[in-house]
Amino acid sequence: MASVTLEGVRKIYHEGGEHVAVAGVNLEVADGEFVVLVGPSGCGKSTTLRMIAGLESISGGTIRIDGRVVNDVPPKLRDIAMVFQSYALYPHMTVRENLGFALKLRNMPRAEIDQRVSAAAATLGLEQYLDRRPRQLSGGQRQRVALGRAIVRQPKVFLFDEPLSNLDAQMRVSMRREIARLHQELGVTMIYVTHDQVEAMTLGDRIVVMEKGHVKQIDTPLNLYRRPKNRFVAGFIGNPAMNFVGGTIAGGGDPRFAAEGGEWEMRLPADVAARVQASRGAAVILGIRPEDVSIATQPGRGLATVTGRLELAESLGNETFVYVRAGAHDLIARAVPQPLPPLGSPIALGLDTDKIHFFEAASGERITSGERDPA
Ligand SMILES: Nc1ncnc2c1ncn2[C@@H]1O[C@H](COP(=O)(O)OP(=O)(O)OP(=O)(O)O)[C@@H](O)[C@H]1O
Ligand SMILES: [Mg+2]
Repeated sequence: MASVTLEGVRKIYHEGGEHVAVAGVNLEVADGEFVVLVGPSGCGKSTTLRMIAGLESISGGTIRIDGRVVNDVPPKLRDIAMVFQSYALYPHMTVRENLGFALKLRNMPRAEIDQRVSAAAATLGLEQYLDRRPRQLSGGQRQRVALGRAIVRQPKVFLFDEPLSNLDAQMRVSMRREIARLHQELGVTMIYVTHDQVEAMTLGDRIVVMEKGHVKQIDTPLNLYRRPKNRFVAGFIGNPAMNFVGGTIAGGGDPRFAAEGGEWEMRLPADVAARVQASRGAAVILGIRPEDVSIATQPGRGLATVTGRLELAESLGNETFVYVRAGAHDLIARAVPQPLPPLGSPIALGLDTDKIHFFEAASGERITSGERDPA
């Protein structure tokens, strides 16, 4: 097992002009920790992972595995195993041969190979498939073989690059659980790349959110959700995404939020007002998660009422996503199933004022979150 440390790690591609793929990542992954890199396509996740693996040279910075600088250490000698999206199993070999192949290349004694292959097959529930070839397996079973090939090597660190994205939704969920269980069982350091926020939230001890080569926040799943440091993280984590409304902090002694376009205003509770004082007059973005917006049957304490027009209701059975147009702004409420007026009718929403976030419009940085950072 091992820790992994990145200090100012950069990657610049020079093909067709200079392109900064990774703009200086600092990250300390503790021994045995499960860290997930997440972000939109092209943000530099795979490049970062491949630099850790040694499959990609680094343009700057330092990578340490267990304290040792590995910048110039070839992949083979880094004691790392990587699992990719494409399983790339050898089609002409049986599952047993696929699992043992890397060990055979290392000239490991037959008995030890057999023992490791059996153990991995047991861990992954592959025992009854050992004599089949990859084409005789389902996608999930193949992906388990790919995992098994990594496990038998007993690496210090596991790296995963979107290992589940070729699987159907149901299989992804069951493989996700399998990987979580594997992490618990082996207690080994894992770094996992995905653009799926549900995978990130459910697997990671900590999550690294990246955008355009930059790290936007590194935190536990719950902290990312409750106290996003900037608008990007706030909008990326959570589904449906957080509602954003541009506007300004207005008012004299009693600051209010005035939505852009002047159609509506809301009073802010005293503690929120105190925290946004300094932003008075400046352009801000209000953020509120759909679950903190309700259908307001009557004005309630701690609720700011916003009236708009009902545009769409999507019923999922256990909950309903209610889309409302309020002035120039779209809001989504995640509501309990209930009778709703016909589409196009006026509808009142209650925004939980204890749960609102404010971000600077220009920088996107957080001004305040409904739940404050612990002191
Ligand atoms: N060999 C290369 N030459 C030039 N640019 C590259 C090369 N490989 C990757 N890039 C660029 O570097 C950036 C980061 O790529 P990377 O593969 O790390 O993204 P990613 O976050 O893994 O995205 P995805 O979710 O689509 O896999 C992208 O803009 C990509 O176009
Ligand atoms: Mg990628």
